[in-house]
Amino acid sequence: MSKRKLIAGNWKMNGNLAANEALVKELLAGIGQPACDVVVCPPGVYVAQLQGLLAGSPIELGVQNVSTHENGPFTGDVSADMLKDFGVRYAIVGHSERRQHQAESDVHVAIKAKRALAAGITPIVCVGETLREREEGMTEFIVKRQLAAVIHLNGHCTSEIVVAYEPVWAIGTGKTATPEQAQSVHAVLRAQLRAATEQADRVRILYGGSMNAGNAAELLAQPDIDGGLIGGAALKAPDFLKIIGAAA
Ligand code: 13P
Repeated sequence: MSKRKLIAGNWKMNGNLAANEALVKELLAGIGQPACDVVVCPPGVYVAQLQGLLAGSPIELGVQNVSTHENGPFTGDVSADMLKDFGVRYAIVGHSERRQHQAESDVHVAIKAKRALAAGITPIVCVGETLREREEGMTEFIVKRQLAAVIHLNGHCTSEIVVAYEPVWAIGTGKTATPEQAQSVHAVLRAQLRAATEQADRVRILYGGSMNAGNAAELLAQPDIDGGLIGGAALKAPDFLKIIGAAA
């Protein structure tokens, strides 16, 4: 599958005005003409700053969350249309940290994906099992259940999403899935997408979880790994640039 890979940086709740500017300037100084698509997802409060910093550059703007609602009395929420106003192109939905700490359910995640799509924003739908679920042989069941909710609600539009397989036990732990472990789950997800849409091969399935400058090339060489969703290493320009280089 020779689609253009996607390298996405999830900054999580890190950064400030000065640090964001320094990081983006270092990235833009080194990025040249990337052979893959590149997106950074800062904390939502910084989208206006990043829109300015990234204008006319090859790096696109993403966010880490979007409201399940369109507009109205939902204190603290930010809608997909509002994000679109600031040039946001991608929205991570269903990250395991939000499923865990904000009690986001599969249905919430599916609705968020739908809201993003309706606003012309590409949702990056995260799925992944915990260590316990893996040890109990539940990996396939869990990721399929998580993706099924999104497919069920979004129908043929599922071909417009990006999926990110992020095993919870690999996030921020330095314990990366082996390329074989990751590929085998990606193949399960691909088969599920194929059963849902004729356009399944267009869907990019990213791997996330301790991806770094040293292991990215091997992971990205797997047939169903179409990019990466990077946390810690996305905050260090030299490392993020190396991962972008590995996605050529
Ligand atoms: P790390 O790359 O820090 O393990 O984080 C992965 C992740 O959660 C990206 O969304």
